[in-house]
Formats: sequence, structure tokens, C-alpha cells
Amino acid sequence: MPHAFSPVPAAGVHPSASAGSAPLSRIARRFTASKYPRNPAIDFRHRPSLSLDHSGPRRGCQRGPGTVARALQPARPANPLTAFVPRPFRRPASHNRAPSRTLDRIRTRGRHMRQTIDERDARRLLGGGPVVLVTTAWHGAQNVMPAVFVTPLSIDPPLIGVAVHPARHTHDMIRFSEEFALNIPTRQLLHHVQYLGSVSGAELGKLELTKLPTFRARKVDAPLLEGCVGWIECGVEDAYKIGDHTLFVGKVAAASAEKDAFDGAWLLADPDERPLHYLGVNYYAILGERLEARIPQPADIKRDVEAGAAELSDEEEIARRREEEAHAEEERERG
Ligand SMILES: Cc1cc2nc3c(=O)[nH]c(=O)nc-3n(C[C@H](O)[C@H](O)[C@H](O)COP(=O)(O)O)c2cc1C
Repeated sequence: MPHAFSPVPAAGVHPSASAGSAPLSRIARRFTASKYPRNPAIDFRHRPSLSLDHSGPRRGCQRGPGTVARALQPARPANPLTAFVPRPFRRPASHNRAPSRTLDRIRTRGRHMRQTIDERDARRLLGGGPVVLVTTAWHGAQNVMPAVFVTPLSIDPPLIGVAVHPARHTHDMIRFSEEFALNIPTRQLLHHVQYLGSVSGAELGKLELTKLPTFRARKVDAPLLEGCVGWIECGVEDAYKIGDHTLFVGKVAAASAEKDAFDGAWLLADPDERPLHYLGVNYYAILGERLEARIPQPADIKRDVEAGAAELSDEEEIARRREEEAHAEEERERG
């Protein structure tokens, strides 16, 4: 299938501009007017409150103290009922109680085991997030690339952000089509994911080459991929230059998931139905087990506040501790 704009057109140049056929899209126009428009919400020039009243930058910090809090004030007037008042530190009544086994284990991990990590690699500590395959379509051409810089941004309206480097073919596909789909692959597509992230759709038709089966999306032209367990179709709401990437903000137009894989949360039953996670370089993982945390009930919180310490050990340990306390109480009563 011929590619509508291969090689990648210069920023702001619409692939069909010379033919004079389609008008520039809204997002494409923004990139044309100024290559990467600044987000007024974070542009300090538009927010005088952020540049005023600096008592001098703190060491290792570019902005003066309290600037973010001041900047938020006009937008969110303080609610006198919930105004933030730092609570003075109060040593809990149970401070001298023997620490729980969980805390013991946490404390005994020695500091000497810690390593310093380069600032540019800090993002790798957030590794392990699900990888998505971003599919796009524009003027008869289709493309797919893996992405991990993906995050939910808003519940209502449902917005999802995907950060794409301007050098990616996908960047232009999204910028001109103003649509994309996120496909959530499983380990069955492990080698496909790495391959699709190693070659560019600007040079070759990746979907044709890998022969990945696709099916029609409900709301967008981008194809959806078989072999995945979840699909999210998005229309682009906005685009921001964030550092060296463009954050495309997509409004969810449709979403679906495999019944065996998802029941409102990932089931993690069949290993072949678990979403693939990316650890960095060419390492991937799947989640092992779905754990269910205790939901704190008002009565539990009341008891914790009275005791001066939250009881967050596992059930077995709580039972053991209660037994020990009851035993100690009995001993005391016996004198
Ligand atoms: C697992 C994985 C995750 C990636 N995540 C991103 C990402 O979030 N954003 C990005 O711009 N590139 C990301 N990349 C790099 C692109 O997928 C890669 O450059 C790809 O070849 C671009 O394809 P395209 O030019 O056809 O769009 C990732 C690569 C891999 C292997």
C-alpha cells in the first residue's frame, strides 16, 4: 500500500498541501502556525502569579517556594472546611509496641544497597507499565508503533495522553488524521512489539510486512489488531509540546476488551490473556497475580486513630497480634 507521506514531511507541511486537496486539520494547523505551540496553562509568561514574589530559587529548584500553591489559588479558592493545615507530628501511643513483621522486613533492607540513578534514567524506575500498539490511518496508509508513554488524563471527559517523538512516522499520522487507536498486546505479540518499535512506517509498511491480522474499529479509521486483549479508539482533542515529545490528548470514542481478560480490572487468569508490560531496553514482563487489598472501613479507621497507628499488616499477622494482646491482657488481669 503506498504511503501518503513517505518520507516524513517537514513539520507543518501537509502531505496533500501541494495537491491543494484537503484543508489543513485543526491539529495540523496548530503545528503549522508555530512548530510546537506552548501550552498556555503551563506557560509562565501567561501566569504572572508564577513569576512574582520569588524569594529566590531554592537550591536545586528553579521556582521560588509556594509558587505552585499561589498559582492554583485563583482557580481553586480555599474551602474553609477542607483547607490544608499541616498536622503537628504526634508520636503514636503504640510507638513502643513491637514493630510488625512487615515493617521489620522493610526496615532491615540496608541503605548500602541503594544506587544513584542518572536523572535521564529516572523514567526507567516507572518501567513495567503496559505497552500499547498505537495504530493510525491516513489517506489509505496505515501504521503501527509500540508506546509506553501513555497515561489516563481525565475520567469525564475520558481523556488519554500518548507522548510521541516528532521523529516518529506515527507523529505525523496522528497529527494529520487527528485519530489513533491503542491496542493492548499480550505476550503472544512479544517479538512483534519489539520489531514494530525498531523500524519506521516512514520506510516500510509494517502491518503488511508483519501480516498482523486487523479488524475494523467502531469510531476511527485506524485498524484494530487481533492478538490484543483491549482496544481504545481516540479522537485527538489537543496536542502539546512536552520536552522532546508531543503529548497527544485523545478523547475516548470507543473501547472494548476480551471477556476472558478483563472484568472491570485485568483478571490475570490465563497468562496468554495478560497485558504485556515493558521494563526497558528489550525486556518485557506480564503481571503475576491479582492481589486484593483490604478496603479500610470507617470503624477500622476510627480504631486506628484511637490506637494512634494504622493496622496495615496482613490478616495472619493481625490475628497473631490480637491473640498476643489478648494473652498479655489475661496475664495482667491474673496479676
Ligand atoms: C516497547 C517500546 C515502547 C516505546 N514507546 C514509545 C513512546 O511512548 N513514544 C515514542 O515516541 N516512541 C516510543 N517507542 C519508539 C517507537 O515505537 C519506535 O521509534 C518506532 O519505530 C516508531 O515507529 P514509526 O516511525 O513507524 O511511528 C517505543 C519503542 C518500544 C520498543
